[in-house]
Amino acid sequence: MRILGLSAPVFRILAICCLISFTSIYVSRSVLFGPSIPKASGLRVPFSFSGPIIEPPEVSAGDRPRVLVTGGAGFIGSHTVVELIGAGYAVTILDNLVNSSPESVARVRKLVDAPEAISFVRGDVRDEGVLSRVLSSARHVAIIHFAALKAVGESISRPLDYYENNLGGLTTVLAAAKAYSIKQIVFSSSATVYGNAQPPFTEATTVGMGITNPYGQTKYIAEIILKDFNLANPSIAIACLRYFNPVGAHASGSIGEDPQGIPNNIMPLCVPTLHDTPIQEFPAHLTPVFAPPPRSVQRVAVGKYPKLTVHGSDYDTPDGTAQRDYIHVVDLAKGHVKAIKFLSKRVAAGVGGTEVVNLGTGSAVSVLELVKAFEKASGKTIPYTLGPRRPGDVPAVWADPAKANTLLGWVAEKNIDDMAADSWRWVSNNPEGYATTQQ
Ligand SMILES: NC(=O)c1ccc[n+]([C@@H]2O[C@H](COP(=O)([O-])OP(=O)(O)OC[C@H]3O[C@@H](n4cnc5c(N)ncnc54)[C@H](O)[C@@H]3O)[C@@H](O)[C@H]2O)c1
Repeated sequence: MRILGLSAPVFRILAICCLISFTSIYVSRSVLFGPSIPKASGLRVPFSFSGPIIEPPEVSAGDRPRVLVTGGAGFIGSHTVVELIGAGYAVTILDNLVNSSPESVARVRKLVDAPEAISFVRGDVRDEGVLSRVLSSARHVAIIHFAALKAVGESISRPLDYYENNLGGLTTVLAAAKAYSIKQIVFSSSATVYGNAQPPFTEATTVGMGITNPYGQTKYIAEIILKDFNLANPSIAIACLRYFNPVGAHASGSIGEDPQGIPNNIMPLCVPTLHDTPIQEFPAHLTPVFAPPPRSVQRVAVGKYPKLTVHGSDYDTPDGTAQRDYIHVVDLAKGHVKAIKFLSKRVAAGVGGTEVVNLGTGSAVSVLELVKAFEKASGKTIPYTLGPRRPGDVPAVWADPAKANTLLGWVAEKNIDDMAADSWRWVSNNPEGYATTQQ
C-alpha cells in the first residue's frame, strides 16, 4: 500500500520522525520557557515596546522568597522594593521604563543591605514571552502588580492606550500567575474607584459611580477582572489595595517620583521635576473627584511659578479649602509588605480569595495646610491667591483605614510634615530627578 506516494513502511518511519521532533521541540520549549501562558483573549492589541531584557534575573538570592514586582522602577514600586528587601524578600523588577528610569533601580540597590537580591528585567508586562522567561528562571511566591499608566489627563486623550496597557497588562499577569502556580497577588488599585461617593470611604462604599476618566475606569474594571479571575481560581489569594493620595519620598532623599516627559499626574505635590514647561491644564469639566490641590506647591517653592492658585476657599471645611487624604509613599510601601505577609499566611492555610483594602491615613489635609507644611519644609514663603472652585471637585476625601489596621496590622505612621520634608529633600537633592548626578 502507498500513502502520499510513499510506501507504507517509509511513511511510518517519516511519521515517527515528525512526531519525535515535534515532541522534542515542545518539551525543550517547556523546559526553557516554562508552560505557555494561555491567552486571555484572541484579540490582543499589539504593544509597541520591544526593548531588550538588559539584566536577566538571578536564580539564587539565598533563602529569600522571591516576589515579582511589575512597575518596580516607578514611584511606589521603587519604595516598595526597598521595604521588601528590608523584610527579607528577593525581588525581580519587571518594568518597561515607560515612566521611570533604570537609575531608580541603581539607587534602590545602593539603599538596601542586600542589593544582590534585586534583579531587574526591562520588559513589558503584556509580553507573555518575557513573563515566561522571568517566571521560569526562578520560583516566585508572589506578584505585586504596579505596572500601569496613571496620568489622568493623558488617559482622557489616549483612552485606548490606557485600557490596553492597564487591562491587557493585568490579564497577562494573571494568566502568568496561574500558569506558574503563583498563589499571592497584590494589585494597585486606587481610591478613584469610589467616584462621587460620600467620604469617609470604607471598602463597602459603592464603587464605580461617577468616575470621570479612563484611568479611573481601568482601576474599576481591573477590580472586576480580579474578582472573576479569583472566582475561577479560588485557591489564589489576592489583595486589592486602594491607595489614597501617595506623596513624599524616601527619607534618604535619593529616590522619589520622577515621571518621564511633562508631568500631568493628579498628584502635583509628588511631582519632583523642575521642568520649565508649564504642565498641561486639566480640563475643568472633567476634573475628577480626586482633583489635585493647586499645582504645584513644589514648583512655586523652587521659584519656577510665581504664584499658586487655590481652587475654592468657601468649602465647608475648617479653612474653606478642599481636603484630601495624603499618604506617605513609605507607609504605602510598608502596606505592601504587610499584604504579602497576610497573603502568605492565607495560602499556607489553604485559603484563597480577594480582600479589598484601603491604604490611607484616615485624615483629611486641606490645601492651605499642605502649603504651610511645604513652607515649613522648604523654609520659603509660598505666594498664593484664592480662586473659584473647579467643577467636579468635592470638598473632602478621606479613607476609613480600619480594615488595613485589623486585617493587615498596618497603620500609616507619617504625617503631612514628614511628607513635605521628604518630598523637599528629594527635589532639592535631585533638581533634574534621576538625571541628577549623585554626589
Ligand atoms: N501615584 C498615585 O497617585 C497612585 C494612586 C493610586 C493608584 N496608583 C497606582 O499605583 C501603581 C504605581 O503607581 P506609581 O505612582 O508608582 O506610578 P509610576 O508611573 O511611577 O510607576 C508605574 C511603573 O510601571 C511601569 N509600566 C507601565 N506600564 C508598563 C508595562 N506595560 N510593562 C512594564 N512596566 C510598565 C512604568 O514604567 C513605571 O515604572 C499604578 O498602578 C498606579 O495606577 C498610583
